[in-house]
Amino acid sequence: MPTAPVRRVPGRLLAPAPGWTTTADVVVVGSGIAGLTAALRLRGQVGKVLVVTKDVLAAGSTQWAQGGIAAALGPGDTPQEHLDDTLVAGAGACDRAAVEVLVTEGPDAVRELIALGTNFDHDPDGELSLTREGGHHRDRIAHAGGDATGAEIQRALIAAIEQAPEIEVIQHALAVDLLLADDGGIAGLTLHVMGEGQRDGVGAVLCRAVVLASGGLGQVFAQTTNPAVSTGDGMAVALRAGAVLRDLEFVQFHPTVMYLGPDSRGQQPLISEAVRGENAFLVDWDGDRLMQGVHELADLAPRDVVAKAITRRMGESGRPHVWLDARAFGPEKWERRFPTILATCRRHGVDPVTDLIPVAPACHYASGGVRTDLWGRSNVPGLYATGEVACSGVHGANRLASNSLLEGLVFSRRIATVLPGELRPLLPPARDTRTAGLVPSDVRRDLQEAMTGLAGVLRSAEGLADAVGHLDKLAGVAADAVDQESWETTNLLTISLALADAAALREETRGSHWREDFPDRDDTHFSGHIDVVMHDGATAMELA
Ligand code: SIN
Repeated sequence: MPTAPVRRVPGRLLAPAPGWTTTADVVVVGSGIAGLTAALRLRGQVGKVLVVTKDVLAAGSTQWAQGGIAAALGPGDTPQEHLDDTLVAGAGACDRAAVEVLVTEGPDAVRELIALGTNFDHDPDGELSLTREGGHHRDRIAHAGGDATGAEIQRALIAAIEQAPEIEVIQHALAVDLLLADDGGIAGLTLHVMGEGQRDGVGAVLCRAVVLASGGLGQVFAQTTNPAVSTGDGMAVALRAGAVLRDLEFVQFHPTVMYLGPDSRGQQPLISEAVRGENAFLVDWDGDRLMQGVHELADLAPRDVVAKAITRRMGESGRPHVWLDARAFGPEKWERRFPTILATCRRHGVDPVTDLIPVAPACHYASGGVRTDLWGRSNVPGLYATGEVACSGVHGANRLASNSLLEGLVFSRRIATVLPGELRPLLPPARDTRTAGLVPSDVRRDLQEAMTGLAGVLRSAEGLADAVGHLDKLAGVAADAVDQESWETTNLLTISLALADAAALREETRGSHWREDFPDRDDTHFSGHIDVVMHDGATAMELA
């Protein structure tokens, strides 16, 4: 195993002194399924709950989820079978106890979502309609609006929040840094708010606990299914405050993201795995089926297996994508079952009723994040994490399809169970002596290209060393503006360096971490995890 490098990244973001201060008992950062579930469940238990979100309430990744939410809800299905599929997909890196929590509490959590008003799709006989996705041996994915599951869940949660005036919401609020008390635990956080009257600009919220539910890091890469807000802020904020990040190297690339051409950047259209769950299949440029003979589940193999097969075939053929064939659905099924994807494809000039859909893998999901225990607690007293920002241990090296919405739901409920009994007193923030720095927003594109080319779906020691060298150079460029773009870009850089370092340390291929120079899984040397921490006044990073 190579030695753990030390990197210089900001221990705290350069920001103006807070121009306003407020207090809350609990601040929830993020407004997807994880954040809003936590807020709704905490209300009435902890005094004032404040939800802060970087854009509007619906702007995060939940809104974009297509396939659905997995839980053992169908006749004959069991949590044990859901557990087995999750562990296999996770490639030996899941925390079994966390998966047990997920699959046993999952069905009730989904029923609660239904009771809240989420309209899932039903069969003509009135039963919940369940479909299949990669890695599942049963139909266990509940969906809504055909392929608009996340949007429907988000709608129901926002409606519930609007009926809860005791939960305060601040939109357009970026969490800049956590404030720590003398004991190293939470004392509050600094925010940058755009255009909320008296709370405009940088301010401080003094509070007794923070629940991070701020989503993932997809914007680290040049092409991702994640929305623009997914800049890894929560992970970077937590790292700077002393929280441990785990499993950062396990970034999932979704196999079927619509290919829009070589110059397309940022958020790309997802073609849900549920399309393959309904018997669509992948073909190469010769029309040959790609997944037959590669895995017993063929086109429904776990996501990492399919993404690797596509990447290999793209490499062999020299083509930038392969094709997804779902023409057999016909117009009626396309319109009923996948209306969102149908409209998206047509908007981009492809009619999937008659045409093949060009697809290639793109960054989709961070399996790692802020390390938590089974109750969502990080190692920083008063700091909890849930959803994609967290690493609860349920995903291991490769998340099973449609387990992400479920994770946010289940672990937010758990946080709301323990947090009220563990509330800290409101403590004054300690004086902060850490160094500060920012990189300019115009290095973002450069960073994304380096990460995609050198630390993306296929990795090697040489490529990762080049990536880190490049990122280190970018870290030396000083920003001349202190603004949201440079805060986000600095967060992206911090997380990119940690991710690339972790990927270099893991000299094996496992799940979504694919090393061309170490093509095999190595259970003798790499059964553990790679943790990223900051030491020494929070200005250096090393891997442990
Ligand atoms: C999809 O619909 O293919 C994505 C579902 C997921 O990411 O779990």
